[in-house]
Amino acid sequence: MGTELKFPASFFWGTATSPTQVEGHVVNEWTDYVASDGGHCRLACNHYHLYQQDIELMAGLGVNAYRMGIEWSRLQSGPFAELNQKELDRYVHLLDCLKAAGITPMVVLHHFSNPPWITASEGWLNPATIPAFVDYTAKIVAALKDRVYIWNTFNEPDTYASLTYLLGGFPPFHKWRYGAFRRVIKHMAEAHVRASEAIRRQCAGARTPEIGVAKNWTYFGAFQRFAFWDHALAEISHHAFNRFVLDQFTGGKRRNASTFLGLNYYGRARLKHFQALVPTNGVSGEKLKELGLVCDDMFERHPAGFGRLLKKLQRQCALPIYITEHGSASTDEDFRIRDLTGHLHELHTAMNDGVDVRGFFYWSLLDNFEWQFGYTKKFGLFSVDFNDEQLTRRTTRVGKFYQQICTAARVPSSR
Ligand code: FCB
Repeated sequence: MGTELKFPASFFWGTATSPTQVEGHVVNEWTDYVASDGGHCRLACNHYHLYQQDIELMAGLGVNAYRMGIEWSRLQSGPFAELNQKELDRYVHLLDCLKAAGITPMVVLHHFSNPPWITASEGWLNPATIPAFVDYTAKIVAALKDRVYIWNTFNEPDTYASLTYLLGGFPPFHKWRYGAFRRVIKHMAEAHVRASEAIRRQCAGARTPEIGVAKNWTYFGAFQRFAFWDHALAEISHHAFNRFVLDQFTGGKRRNASTFLGLNYYGRARLKHFQALVPTNGVSGEKLKELGLVCDDMFERHPAGFGRLLKKLQRQCALPIYITEHGSASTDEDFRIRDLTGHLHELHTAMNDGVDVRGFFYWSLLDNFEWQFGYTKKFGLFSVDFNDEQLTRRTTRVGKFYQQICTAARVPSSR
């Protein structure tokens, strides 16, 4: 036991969701998708209709920030189209409810989904998607600039481009198209720069905007010390998914397009004879335990790497950082509480050592539609009963624990 960890009063304690995962009633490339558990996103948590109730839950948690997406497919029916007024009004009302609850929004413009007309014209492989996205950005910013000042252009371009074109997990399910992966990243990075210009233009006279991309960071390593082939693959993966992507978005002059860097951090993937030792790769819990790996239902946890990474990113990018996502999926709530505490300790130490971190957004507010895995991964601060028509939300112990942190801006010392 040590002393409690105190965070700055201005720090954002938030939570996060994405439209396809919680809203329901979306028409995008995920609508017809059936996940490995047979689930689909057509209703999800019905946040589309239940957002007022969900904002009350957030207010009860004591969060002062919320990272939410706005679903492009709801707002534009074609390239350069006017925004759909009804859908816009709904988001405006949601933002007004947040404001009334004292919760600052960070808005994500792209989170793994596209309007059908973008998908039909080759998605992010097509350079014409860039001006279409910039036009959408300009219009949504013009409409919401009095209510939103923190804009997160892209969520995890690395995850998106690799699962769509390298690993076949996301629509359109292509595999091993490395050229396509790079092309998507390049187009998104270009779109980020141009969207940033558009945001700044639209916000002239309004509150100075904050703009950034959310980079997922996975550590790659070899499980066995002398397995040089695994070391080589880990190095290649690190280069493709971390270094190349970060460089495209924030390297050289491009750094000026962002005022912050978003970091999504879940942990690491270690390789054994080319196999990634993580639950998401189908490796059983028993086997991982036998090998001595500490995992949630998705990844190997690596809190020590979190602190190291924060220092490295500060040195490399010299931008303020938001932890745009961190959380764990497990039905073992003690595990989740320990995981959160461990990561917040690392965060606190890094901040004491001078890393400029402005906020932490827990993934996720609710149990939700976890892409390929459907409803099997329990990330919520609130659980959702998907068998019940009302989709009843219930507080979890992790939620109560996070509530203590948010209301006191302190983290208990015991791990
Ligand atoms: C991140 C995604 C988010 C969710 C969490 C678990 O990679 O941004 O949508 O799937 O992982």
